[in-house]
Amino acid sequence: MSALFLSLEGIDGAGKSSHLDAIEALLRAQGRTVTRTREPGGTPLAEQLRDMILKQPMDPLTESLLVFAARRDHIVQVIEPALARGDVVLCDRFTDATFAYQGGGRGFDTQVLATLERWAQARPDEGARLLQPDLTLWFDLPPEVAAARLADARTPDKFEAQSADFFRRVASGYAKRAAADPSRFVLIDANRTREEVWTQVAQAFQKRGIGA
Ligand code: TYD
Repeated sequence: MSALFLSLEGIDGAGKSSHLDAIEALLRAQGRTVTRTREPGGTPLAEQLRDMILKQPMDPLTESLLVFAARRDHIVQVIEPALARGDVVLCDRFTDATFAYQGGGRGFDTQVLATLERWAQARPDEGARLLQPDLTLWFDLPPEVAAARLADARTPDKFEAQSADFFRRVASGYAKRAAADPSRFVLIDANRTREEVWTQVAQAFQKRGIGA
């Protein structure tokens, strides 16, 4: 079976994490080997960077450089080797989150992000083609609903503590990325019951012959 790179995206509180176990189980039931991972993070070095990124105040360029440094290590150590083995890589967030949070939320220059993306995600054997997920599930719901869901849940980290306006900009950052690569993105309406959200996820997989 051929390698597959799946990513899950959405604003904080969108509920993507609550579907990860079920997605992994569905893929394993197909006989697939799943490498489940997350960003920022996924390697010892990248997890250390994650801790800094989520806790410490820093300017947007510093934040973007650290996010891409973590990503580069993750790609080299985990993602590319897993894809070379033919695994499914199931990744909780990837570069779309950088365009959404640093680009949209923080208003940082997306041209600079695109340059960092080209450096970090270059695949030497494939000319100009960058490493990107094959399929991205984008869990979308209004920032107010997401904030209400998060409020009961836990102590917010640096990003979760941001305003509804910040998350509106994050959502529009995701929308721009999706518009630029529509065949990769599947929009999941996350403002539904858990079962209804799962049905959309399962349908997205079926449509692409994954987990049919
Ligand atoms: P998240 O994936 O939501 O994990 P948890 O469920 O443990 O909170 O947290 C990661 C946070 O990092 C989230 O707020 C988005 C942010 N982030 C960025 O700002 N840029 C990035 O490139 C990535 C991958 C994440």
